[in-house]
Amino acid sequence: MENFYLTTAIDYVNGAPHIGHAYEKILTDIIARHFRKRCENVFFLSGTDEHGIKIQKTSASKGITPKELCDINSGKFQDCWKDLGISYDKFIRTTDDYHKNAVQKIFNKLLEKGDIYKHSYTGLYCQGCECFLNEKDLTEDGLCPDHLTKPEEVSEENYFFKLTKYKDAIVKHIKENPDFIVPSFRANEVLNQLEDIQDISISRSSSNLQWGIPVLNDSRQVIYVWIDALSNYITGLGYDTENNSDNFRKYWPANVQVIGKDILKFHSIYWLALLMALELPLPKQILAHGWITIDETKMSKSLGNVIAPQDILKNFELQNADALRYYMATSAPCGKDGNYSDDDFKEKVNAHLANSMGNLLNRTLSMLVKYFDGEVKPEFKTDASILNTAKNTIDIVKSHFDKYEIAEAGNAIIQLVDVTNKYVTDNAPWTLAKEEKMTECGQVLTSVLDVMCVIASLIEPFCPNIAKDMAEQLSFDLSIKYDDLTIDNIKIGKLIEKENIHPVFLRMDSELADKSGKQK
Ligand code: MSP
Repeated sequence: MENFYLTTAIDYVNGAPHIGHAYEKILTDIIARHFRKRCENVFFLSGTDEHGIKIQKTSASKGITPKELCDINSGKFQDCWKDLGISYDKFIRTTDDYHKNAVQKIFNKLLEKGDIYKHSYTGLYCQGCECFLNEKDLTEDGLCPDHLTKPEEVSEENYFFKLTKYKDAIVKHIKENPDFIVPSFRANEVLNQLEDIQDISISRSSSNLQWGIPVLNDSRQVIYVWIDALSNYITGLGYDTENNSDNFRKYWPANVQVIGKDILKFHSIYWLALLMALELPLPKQILAHGWITIDETKMSKSLGNVIAPQDILKNFELQNADALRYYMATSAPCGKDGNYSDDDFKEKVNAHLANSMGNLLNRTLSMLVKYFDGEVKPEFKTDASILNTAKNTIDIVKSHFDKYEIAEAGNAIIQLVDVTNKYVTDNAPWTLAKEEKMTECGQVLTSVLDVMCVIASLIEPFCPNIAKDMAEQLSFDLSIKYDDLTIDNIKIGKLIEKENIHPVFLRMDSELADKSGKQK
């Protein structure tokens, strides 16, 4: 694959980022970093969704302008992604001028095409969802099932989009492309929702909503926030109805669009219809991830259990986010809900990153220094069986990533670590050294260290800092692409520097970690 384009949902900025938002950005970042090792060009887009009634109301209650609130909170999201090592290529804000202009043109194109018409309407609007709900979707008490708030009855003359015109084509696309929605078990949900789909209101009267993009030539109407938001995936590449940018030509359609399961309807129905109306190709896949809970309960402001990712880094005095990235990304199988708990976090990363992976590297390098002054001698041949296991793991990990099974890929890497630890125990290089079987001892050590190069390369998307540190200690070139990881290229440097050897990840409760108060 030459080009690979992937996106995250864009977050609402009426609050600060929490670990649910972070989960999605981490998953997407890991996919981006993995495919950078497989493709020529990767483009990763993320951003913030800044219009809508919630921002209008929150900013008013704080006595600041909507734009001021957006600037403050979008800044918080961007700072947080920096701390988590999210390596997007572009960050779009829906208040950016180029985006607003492109959205107005998109709206007009659909109007000219006859896919938009004006219609008087009375409906129940949920501010939390930023959408109209049907009576039958509400709880027995008439509340929005997601936000447990009473939707507001709205009577307006709005612009409507002919969603029903595209219904059959969407059903056909989903049925003919069973891999389009990942995981595929969610496709049925969407097909059910499609059964009673109606045309949708795609503007609001500016007497009710001012904080949005006005319809061109009709400033009494503001474009519906979801049309504005969904368009970011193409305007972020420079799409313009008249004149497309190089990036748009190069990267669209997206390879994968990563979103939470709660907004699948918008992405697999509304977004597809919009693209069909614009006569643009459809994204190849949509990955709907599950929900992150805290101690097995839903995160919510009212329960007071919302966790900010940076607070976790601070509490555990972590200098980078590798451990949190690894933990979150492996918290749930593809598409399922995951959970965060401090204790589980500590236990898992101590076991996997410190005890299994870090310790394996550290003790093997130390033995190479102890027995051979760190030198890899030409007579040390590597053991084909363990190296083949490592090479198979590269294929296994790649195939998990092809299905966006990120947790499963992480588990496969740790399995390789476990197998390699067992290889060390079974071959006991310390006994070989005692028995003065030095060539055999050297072979075991270099075989293990070669496997560690593969492990560093595979874990890099999850834990970029740890992988860099591992590669430096191994004198291994981490920039090698996965296709080039051949027996000849999987090799540690000829000489390992004693001074360079240190644990790549300290146990979070270890004395050493407590004393130094930091992770390297
Ligand atoms: N602004 C819309 C998305 C527009 S995309 C064109 C939105 N924003 S959001 O801030 O509410 O959510 C942003 C993303 O974070 C969504 O994909 C959502 O599913 C995800 N998550 C929000 N809370 C979450 C959890 N507790 N767990 C996992 N993901 C969650 O929806």
